[in-house]
Amino acid sequence: MSSIVTAKDLCLWYGTAQALNNINIEIPEKNITAFIGPSGCGKSTFLKTLNRMNDLIPGVKITGEVRYGEQDVYASGLDVNLLRKEIGMVFQKPNPFPMSIYDNIAYGPRTHGVRNKAKLDDIVERSLRGAAIWDEVKDRLKKNALGLSGGQQQRLCIARALEVMPEVLICDEPVSALDVSIQAQVLNLFGKLQKEFGLTYVFISHDLSVIRHISDRIAIMYLGQVVELCGAEGIYDSPLHPYTQALLSAIPPASPFEKKKAIELPGDIPSPIGDQVGCPLASRCPHCTDRCRRECPQLTEQTDGHQVACFLYDKERAR
Ligand SMILES: Nc1ncnc2c1ncn2[C@@H]1O[C@H](COP(=O)(O)OP(=O)(O)OP(=O)(O)O)[C@@H](O)[C@H]1O
Ligand code: SF4
Ligand SMILES: [Mg+2]
Repeated sequence: MSSIVTAKDLCLWYGTAQALNNINIEIPEKNITAFIGPSGCGKSTFLKTLNRMNDLIPGVKITGEVRYGEQDVYASGLDVNLLRKEIGMVFQKPNPFPMSIYDNIAYGPRTHGVRNKAKLDDIVERSLRGAAIWDEVKDRLKKNALGLSGGQQQRLCIARALEVMPEVLICDEPVSALDVSIQAQVLNLFGKLQKEFGLTYVFISHDLSVIRHISDRIAIMYLGQVVELCGAEGIYDSPLHPYTQALLSAIPPASPFEKKKAIELPGDIPSPIGDQVGCPLASRCPHCTDRCRRECPQLTEQTDGHQVACFLYDKERAR
């Protein structure tokens, strides 16, 4: 499976506060890779580095590398608008432009020089159909998009993101603001579009059932690092990292007769990364050793495609 986006030794600071610490990950093409982790661990920050949305925030410093195919995403002179056309984004909170439903979709093609009315009509209908909202809005295309419900607004934003035919779609908690009944509809839509257009998704969700439903691969983040990465089922069947094990142990058992003990990690997540040098989980981990406080474990492959950053799986652990 070839990768479409790669991050290498990626670190990011907001002013003096470090938010990403040495991220190394490959995102495979035509797959759904999901990121999960506690609030503030850097999920949104990482996704925004992929299409340079962090450029808009003053004081951001980035080291390391992000590649989109062969292209260095942070190369000077790169056309950022073109990059964002190829790596699109859907946010947690729907953000339609304060204009008509029609113009929300037509805005992009117009700025790229499409003037022909029939062609624009065609793009608008195709995009709205693709996002499963055409039937609901076809008779009110000239009405302001802000008058739509939250679920409709989110599907409009998906239609707008799809209109430019991105290669990669970054979705930052795209269903968490939606009503539960609409969530399933929008998630199914993502799955359908992924198959139809061979899209690559990079997805954030707090909801483990959402993640399981939709993803091919799962990355677990903690305190600015990816601590575990593997195929979606592998993470549920054999979680390796102590943080992942604690996270999954908190899911209620499928059957009321099944016994399951939640693993509780003591203390709180240190924030921000600050000057901690060892493993990000060291202050809370029941298996912590002196080495964990001194050194930071790197992601290493354990079984086919299953990587973890933890000295428990390091042959040199006895050091
Ligand atoms: N614009 C910003 N300026 C300064 N610090 C920021 C900014 N955005 C995020 N941070 C900090 O960077 C760290 C990572 O934040 P980020 O939003 O990436 O986390 P997250 O994992 O997406 O959290 P959540 O699940 O709550 O959305 C946090 O400590 C946060 O406070
Ligand atoms: S490296 Fe050490 S502190 Fe970190 S998760 Fe593994 S055992 Fe725990
Ligand atoms: Mg976030």
